[in-house]
Amino acid sequence: SSPSVALNTGLQMPVLGLGTYKLCDPEDVHRAVDAALSAGYRAFDSAAVYRNEADLGKALRELLPKYGLTRKDVFITSKLGPKDQGEKAMEGALHSLSQLDLEYIDLYLIHWPGTQGLAVADERNPGNRAQSWASLEELHGQGKLRAIGVSNYTPAHMRELMQSCKVPPAVLQVEFHPRLCQPELRSLCKESGVCFQAYSSLGKGELLTDPVVLEVAENCKRTPAQVLLRWAVQQGIPVLPKSSNPDRILQNAEVFDFSLSDTDISRLSALDCGHRFCWDPSGVA
Ligand code: A2P
Repeated sequence: SSPSVALNTGLQMPVLGLGTYKLCDPEDVHRAVDAALSAGYRAFDSAAVYRNEADLGKALRELLPKYGLTRKDVFITSKLGPKDQGEKAMEGALHSLSQLDLEYIDLYLIHWPGTQGLAVADERNPGNRAQSWASLEELHGQGKLRAIGVSNYTPAHMRELMQSCKVPPAVLQVEFHPRLCQPELRSLCKESGVCFQAYSSLGKGELLTDPVVLEVAENCKRTPAQVLLRWAVQQGIPVLPKSSNPDRILQNAEVFDFSLSDTDISRLSALDCGHRFCWDPSGVA
C-alpha cells in the first residue's frame, strides 16, 4: 500500500487516493474499488455531489474482506455539497455518514466556498461558510468526522477561516498540476500546518499530451500519467487520480518506485501559467 502523510490531527492520510468523481454506476464503483484495493490504494475520495457515497460504502463493505482489510485500514473522504452550506450543514454531513453507512468519516471537506442558489458574489457566503465550519467542528468533536478541511478555497477564504476557526482545517484540496502550481496556497498551507492535497493532477486527461510531459515520460520510461502524479508526490503532495479503468487505476498507483530528476521537476513546474481545467473559485465572496 502507498505511503502516508501525518495530518495536524495526528491522523495518517495515504498519499495516494482514488478520485471517484463521475463514478456513479454501482457496478463501475465496485469494479474501480476492487481494482484500487488490489493495486494498494487505501484512500477513496467521494462527495455528496458525486452521488456515489452509498455505492462506495457498499463496495467497501463487500470488498474489504477479500483483501483481509477492515474499516480502519482505509481512509474515506467525502464533502459537503454547496446546497448544504450554512444552516443545512449538520444535516448534510449526517446524510453523508448515513449514505456511506459508516460510523465515522476520516476526512470531511467543505466542497466549495460558495452556496448553491446564491449569487457567487452574495455577501451571505461568508456567514454560510462559518456556519458550515462550526457544524463540522461539532461533528469532529463527537468523533464522527476524524479530520475536517476545505476544498477549492482561495487564499482569502483560507485566511478568513484561519482567523475564525476553533479547529483549524487539516486539509486543503485544490486543483494542482504543472500548469497550476498554486504557490500562494502552498506557502499558506505550509505556514499554517494544513496539508495541501491535489485534485485533477492529470488536468482532466488533457495534460497527458503536453509535449514536456511526453518528453519526460519518454526519458524515464514511464507513462505521462505516472510522470504527472510523481511530480506531485515527489514534492510531498498527496494525489487523487480518478479513473474507472482497472489498468489505469493500477498504472496510477505505480509512482513510488521511481524518481524524477530535479531538472525534470523544474521543467514541469515551469509550465505554470495559472491555467484551470476546473471551476475557478476566485470570484466567490
Ligand atoms: P478513465 O476513467 O477512462 O481512465 P483528472 O483526475 O485530472 O481529472 O483526470 C481524470 C481523467 O483522466 C479521466 O477522464 C480518466 O479517464 C483519465 N485517466 C486517468 N488515469 C489515466 C491514465 N493513467 N492514462 C490516461 N488517462 C487516464
